[in-house]
Amino acid sequence: MCGIVGYIGTQKAKPILINGLLRLEYRGYDSAGIATIENNVIKNIKNKGRVNDLLSIPEIETLDGTIGIGHTRWATHGKPSSTNSHPHLDNSNTFAVVHNGIIENYAELRKDLENKGYKFLSETDTEVIPNLIHYFFSNSSLTGEMKFLNAVNEACKLLVGSFALEILCSLYPNSMLVVRKDSPLVIGTSQTENYISSDIPAILSFTKDFYLLNDLEFAYLTRDTVKFFDNNLNQISKNTTSIEWNATAAEKDGFEDFMLKEIFEQPKSIRETIGSHINGKCVINDLNISKEYLESINKIFIVACGTAMHAGLACKSVLEQICEISTEVDIASEFRYRNPLINEKTLCIFISQSGETADTIAALKLAKERGSKTIAISNVIGSSISREADYTIYTHAGPEIAVASTKAYTSQIMILNILALYFAQILERNLDKVEALKQELLEVPNKVEQCLKLANEVKEFANKVYKEKDIFFLGRGIDYSSSLEASLKLKEISYIHSEAYAAGELKHGPIALIENDITVVALITVPYLVEKSISNIQEVITRGAKTLIITNQDLGNKTFDKIIRIPEASEYVSPILSIIPMQLFAYYISKEKGLDVDKPRNLAKSVTVE
Ligand code: AGP
Ligand code: GLU
Repeated sequence: MCGIVGYIGTQKAKPILINGLLRLEYRGYDSAGIATIENNVIKNIKNKGRVNDLLSIPEIETLDGTIGIGHTRWATHGKPSSTNSHPHLDNSNTFAVVHNGIIENYAELRKDLENKGYKFLSETDTEVIPNLIHYFFSNSSLTGEMKFLNAVNEACKLLVGSFALEILCSLYPNSMLVVRKDSPLVIGTSQTENYISSDIPAILSFTKDFYLLNDLEFAYLTRDTVKFFDNNLNQISKNTTSIEWNATAAEKDGFEDFMLKEIFEQPKSIRETIGSHINGKCVINDLNISKEYLESINKIFIVACGTAMHAGLACKSVLEQICEISTEVDIASEFRYRNPLINEKTLCIFISQSGETADTIAALKLAKERGSKTIAISNVIGSSISREADYTIYTHAGPEIAVASTKAYTSQIMILNILALYFAQILERNLDKVEALKQELLEVPNKVEQCLKLANEVKEFANKVYKEKDIFFLGRGIDYSSSLEASLKLKEISYIHSEAYAAGELKHGPIALIENDITVVALITVPYLVEKSISNIQEVITRGAKTLIITNQDLGNKTFDKIIRIPEASEYVSPILSIIPMQLFAYYISKEKGLDVDKPRNLAKSVTVE
């Protein structure tokens, strides 16, 4: 969930590690630490709090090594404290380890090690790792780098759970070992230096050439070499992947926060998503899908978490209406445990901005096991999900840094629309609608620009209601999925309790919560549902609610507290437009409350644990 960085080269490691950790802080931030090796001694500095708090520890001044590992922690086992922070060392101070993920069987491993005489200082699951490595190392008759590698490999064989590990050994002061399983880790490389990170943007300013590790592959690094080994310790070869993102894409670029920057980037990110996919026809290169196959499937499942799942909900109807294939949208953590009815007649689409979400990846593995074809939609090239799926379509929205997802969501909706059109073309179904929607998709970036011009109006209303305790969101049809996303955005960054309901469902219970002066936001973009929606809103107005309406419809001369008009669009496209004022609404409320918009409490950008 958190972040790891590493450096081995000719420069001092400390500033590079600190710089990388600061860029990763958005992923999790209850503690931080770094370790280097100098004169065959591991120097380890760590503490509870933010990365900048590390800089106030006097000993940090003395870190001069040119090899080092760093960590920002999102605690799973043991409260945030200096002792529980990473790096963790073994009892003899020979091995230092930083770890992302969870060791599920740590309790039994710890007991075994205690029986062998090892002592533990922290409450973490991680601390078993350096001690296990030490155990295998000191009982090995091997020599040289294989001794180090073998000890780490033997330790990894015992670990159940997820891990990305960087390991230093004081006896090998010019080498570092890294390995991953179900947790992200990349290696950036240049001629005389190597960089490691859990997240590409953290080291993007140093190199654009990356090695991607698969599960249980080991990289043995020196300053100018990287050797790869499988888990039988056979050497394997790998090519680098060049990452097109430029480093400034991961900077705030004059905006106050990453979230605001990413909201305003949407015309551009959506243009990038459209990219070369719409060119006369809709094309998804290399997607090996035949008419025969599409005719043979009886169900599409879209599986994802959080905002990515909402993008799936927003696109259920385009797949059903334009492709005429029944489509179900599921929460990954539910899907994987509910024994879903999937087989070779089911196509499963998994959406994940980060491509590292543990539940989504597990759901994908399940679908594959059951014979279903799998497509991943991800924003991160080389992410874990892209290595598991039969095929990956990249959203190309550029790095999304703020924890609250904005531009990835609108790009996910765009790519799903394009995919639906692509399928319909192959199936030769509804070709007139395909043509009309294709034209409409091309106009979306301009319409998003118009929505962004509403920022001041949205801010004005947000500033009136930012002290509220509860805010409700209502919508019918496609607007219900947008309401869910609007409500999630608000909860995440403003900590205001919020609910989203299908407007027609209100009177079946939730209306009991409506009281004088409560704020209700309603989305109305579906022409044939206008009257029905207005009736529902009338019901809350009668009970004293303040109302903000987001609409592209003519609502007659009804009185609402505020109406925000967005451009007209079909129901397939309107979720991209209606969410823009809602993202801004959440943003301005959070700002007015003085909260940290980019790093909301308890949340992490990549949820790599179940
Ligand atoms: C979005 O604002 C959230 N932080 C969260 O719901 C997120 O969408 C979810 O965790 C899924 O992440 P993914 O797209 O990286 O898989
Ligand atoms: N499970 C480890 C811990 O609690 C690592 C958590 C993380 O990924 O930051 O310390």
